[in-house]
Amino acid sequence: MLKHLILWPLAAFALLQLIQIKIPDAPAKIDPAKEIKAPADIKALLKRSCYDCHSYRTDIPWYGHIAPFSFEVKSHIKEGRLAVNFQEWGNYDEEKKQRVYHGIVKTIDWRMPLPMYLDAHPEAKLTDKERAKIKAWAKSHIKEQE
Ligand code: HEC
Repeated sequence: MLKHLILWPLAAFALLQLIQIKIPDAPAKIDPAKEIKAPADIKALLKRSCYDCHSYRTDIPWYGHIAPFSFEVKSHIKEGRLAVNFQEWGNYDEEKKQRVYHGIVKTIDWRMPLPMYLDAHPEAKLTDKERAKIKAWAKSHIKEQE
């Protein structure tokens, strides 16, 4: 009886591993000229706190390959890159760029980086001052103020 109690969840866990979310491959050649241009301090903040989900420079942690955690991690990367990939910036039209700048102003105070991610990546946490800096930078690029 006890054996079954242990074996069934193990078997279910093993089966779960067969389901893997596929993140589209990064292009073989990433053009550095397409990357967003920003003052060095802003760029450093974006790299530290945003690039894991918003660039091709994705560092998937070990648990990111283990279901069910992988579902969460990989779908964040997939959707994050769709929302904005800072290494594809040069391919965006002005409308998309404006949408992202607005999005940053809107989300930087509480939604980005994702709180769930921050639990596992304390180094990506932004101080209030750093958030304010990113916000001011994004605002300075917004054409018509709301
Ligand atoms: C753990 C992954 C992750 C990290 C880290 C992360 N994001 Fe995101 N981001 C997402 C996902 C997933 C979406 C799309 C779903 C959503 O909007 O919640 C998104 C959406 C966005 C959007 C579009 C939101 C909108 O409503 O217009 C912006 C702008 C954004 N992120 C900026 C940032 C910035 C700036 C950082 C760093 C300070 C950051 N993100 C860090 C995962 C992440």
